[in-house]
Amino acid sequence: MTEMQSGRSCLAILLAAGEGTRMKSARPKVLHEIGGRSLLGHALASLSEAGADAVVVVTGPDRPEVALEAQAARPAVQIAIQAQRRGTAHAALAAREALAAGYDDVIVAFADTPLVRPETFSALRAALADGAAVVALGFEARDPTGYGRFIIRDGALEAIVEHKDATPDQRATTLCNAGLMALDGKQALPLLEAIGNANAQSEFYLTDAVAVARSRRLRTRALMAPESEVQGVNDRIQLAVAEAEFQRRKRLAVMAEGATLTAPDTVFFSHDTQIGRDVLIEPHVVFGPGVSVADGAVIHAFSHLEGAEVGPAATVGPYGRLRPGAKLGEKAKIGNFVEIKSSEIGAGAKISHLTYVGDATVGEGANIGAGTITCNYDGFFKYRTTIGAGAFVGSNSSLVAPVTIGAGAFVGSGSVVTDDVAPDALAVGRGRQVTREGWAKSFREVSLARKAAAKKP
Ligand code: UD1
Ligand code: CA
Repeated sequence: MTEMQSGRSCLAILLAAGEGTRMKSARPKVLHEIGGRSLLGHALASLSEAGADAVVVVTGPDRPEVALEAQAARPAVQIAIQAQRRGTAHAALAAREALAAGYDDVIVAFADTPLVRPETFSALRAALADGAAVVALGFEARDPTGYGRFIIRDGALEAIVEHKDATPDQRATTLCNAGLMALDGKQALPLLEAIGNANAQSEFYLTDAVAVARSRRLRTRALMAPESEVQGVNDRIQLAVAEAEFQRRKRLAVMAEGATLTAPDTVFFSHDTQIGRDVLIEPHVVFGPGVSVADGAVIHAFSHLEGAEVGPAATVGPYGRLRPGAKLGEKAKIGNFVEIKSSEIGAGAKISHLTYVGDATVGEGANIGAGTITCNYDGFFKYRTTIGAGAFVGSNSSLVAPVTIGAGAFVGSGSVVTDDVAPDALAVGRGRQVTREGWAKSFREVSLARKAAAKKP
């Protein structure tokens, strides 16, 4: 259910005051990335898609990077500081002002749990709309150690007991708390404020909202999710597991939209990769952020693309490299060991082998021969190369920018082109060939004679 359908307003509180020491990193944990986007960015995007009208990110003191990242992902985000880590309920109360503003739904989510789908947040909201005061999300844990356990009696969620506080009997259950929770907006603040810290860790547990709600005769609900969706990230190994799950989903989504992946497990996407229909992606291709591939294009094996636009029915690779600002027109062809950066390649242009094209415009139907280099950098500044429609650049040419090759012009192979070439002209910039008849034969004879003379004692 979307916010449109429910008509209910929604506040999301995203807890990000983690220490993240197990990452062994100079970077805050929630700024580590999967699919080229921070964990925090994933959680924010999912909450936004689930219709959150306002989001408060709760972060620790001295974490300006976290606030900056949150603002980049969602400019209207509010930042609240939790001065001391005193538990998840205490962290949620850092958003007290927003809680008091009276939203219909309140979601408390964790920024280190990046794979929760918008549909799941929406399901939690739907349970609130259905009359529950507290809705917790659970999962069947392969290994429940460390997680809070659901205590279900007569089909109702009675309480959540943290692992450290649980009895051996309670620890035997594998029905665990995923951590995130939805609370009815009218009850959220009084419930959170009623939570105490008389437990093994002397922390204010968000999970106690369940028992407090029950004691007030309010309805509680438990919803279930697959473990793969609610897994958190605490170290680099879990980061890799989350990355794998992200890639698995993205591959399925790309194929569901009509692209063929010959070996899906070997293709890696970014969160924002856009792939059209009837696109063929061969094995071992990596998409960095900001790539779109139009219908009918082919990305051959071992290609690497980032910040690039691939036009309809264009082809890349094998071993193609598209760097930021590469834009390929319809049916353009980028062949093996070709690198394109900040360049527009016109429709039907061919750059088939061993070439670097940077800061250039290549006209429609131009043919760029093997080994061509645009010399775009003098160590200080970058310069542009312009190649007109239908131009032919012979193999192994160096185009020293700034330089323009006119439409339909021809550059002889091996040329170093430093001056502009007029449309339809021929430019040859290389040493002239000299041929001497019979030279090799006489060289051989003279050399053999010298060698024989030198061998005599
Ligand atoms: C929490 C749940 C547990 C659940 C588990 C799932 C509680 C009390 N326990 O336990 O039932 O099974 O998640 O992974 O909620 N945070 C703050 N400030 C704090 C404490 C935590 O911002 O003072 C944030 C952390 O950054 C993290 C999240 O809240 O993103 C969860 O905190 P964490 O300490 O990891 O909770 P767990 O002990 O794992
Ligand atoms: Ca945790």
